[in-house]
Amino acid sequence: MAELSRRKMLISGGALGALSALGMASPAWAWAPSGSIAGSGAGADPRWVWDEEADPLVASLLDRGAVPEANRLLWNWNRNDQPLPDGLPDDLRAFIEKARQLPSWADKGKLTTAAEFNKSRGLYLNLLNGVGGGMLSTAIPKEARAVYYSKGGANMEDRVAKTSILGFAVGALNAYQPDGSCVVNAVKTRLVHAAVRHLLPQSPNWTGEVPISQNDMLVTWHTLPTFAMRKMREWQVPITTAQSDAYLHVWQVTAHMLGIRDEYIPATWTAANSQSDQVMPPAMGPTREGVELTEILLGQLAEQTSPGSIGRPLCNALARYLVGTQVADWDGIRREPVWDPLIANTWPILVRFREGLIPLPLVPPVAWTIDEALRQYILFYLTKGKQTKIEIPTINRPS
Ligand code: HEM
Repeated sequence: MAELSRRKMLISGGALGALSALGMASPAWAWAPSGSIAGSGAGADPRWVWDEEADPLVASLLDRGAVPEANRLLWNWNRNDQPLPDGLPDDLRAFIEKARQLPSWADKGKLTTAAEFNKSRGLYLNLLNGVGGGMLSTAIPKEARAVYYSKGGANMEDRVAKTSILGFAVGALNAYQPDGSCVVNAVKTRLVHAAVRHLLPQSPNWTGEVPISQNDMLVTWHTLPTFAMRKMREWQVPITTAQSDAYLHVWQVTAHMLGIRDEYIPATWTAANSQSDQVMPPAMGPTREGVELTEILLGQLAEQTSPGSIGRPLCNALARYLVGTQVADWDGIRREPVWDPLIANTWPILVRFREGLIPLPLVPPVAWTIDEALRQYILFYLTKGKQTKIEIPTINRPS
């Protein structure tokens, strides 16, 4: 299938796609499958592997006009243990029944520990995955362009709310329990991605290879758990080995449920860090679309968190602090002479106070402005997420 897709790319892709397909544009894949959950694999370059089960299925659903009805039927499919609604096309039903199974290596004990960890570190994780992950993804040209030119690119508020549904589902106490919703939202996301792979290459604005390859998925995955864990370590948040193992595990399971192959899912943090160092740098850089999306996202964030006019500068500084100078510059995030140093100095103090490492009198009052802004932001997206659901798109960005 990988070979087939590669040939298809050479035929249908632009010059860039063809060059990359021949391995001329970037170095060969060097990450060993021995470091993966599967422990072995063919070592195929994940830039040329997509989702061989979901992609032909969703392409067929789109081509035969079956998606609107499927979306309607799946609207009330919410809980992990919920039977599928009647009336779904047989091929879609068969796919979902298989895709909703947790991998054999899923470990209930670790998932419980992860849920408790997600709860106790919820503020950091929401900040890192939401604002941090968001600002990193706009500095990934392939992802920024995919988001910009797909349906949701025209309505970023809804898009962010939809994305946060999965984020909050992963972080929920019952994420993979029968009454949770992580399985459902991961499987729906897998279908959405398959739709994007079919639709986006039809957009006049899209050039290059079919989007959302396994490599692209890994890149985005690293903007979430790997980035968050590195940052929490940097901030010296106390984390036990059991907690960090469990946190990795919930994201390994989520990667599997999203359709990332086990042979690419890192088995340990060491393997994850080395894979991240391999896939992230060549995947990042500036684009016009990324800058525009960043502007919209930070504008939204500022609206939610703004106590008066300090809102936007605070958001800019927070974003810059999280992702660092290089990415912030690629994203076109403005420098804030007042807030940049204030955040850099205050945030570590706030973390240490929250972790019980220093007493209250050492916390400068401005820390509470930041803390409150974050709470409002999280609450806003929690509320927004409740008003919408993940649906398979049938079109690209309309304008
Ligand atoms: C949609 C998460 C990787 C592009 C979504 C949605 C979620 C999600 C939750 C549903 C929200 C919605 O329908 O708007 C993830 C996660 C990833 C990942 C957790 C990796 C671990 C990627 C990558 C790309 C991508 C690598 C592109 C290179 C898109 C696009 C849509 C989407 C374009 C929305 C389609 C639309 O607006 O119609 N993703 N994603 N995603 N994702 Fe991903």
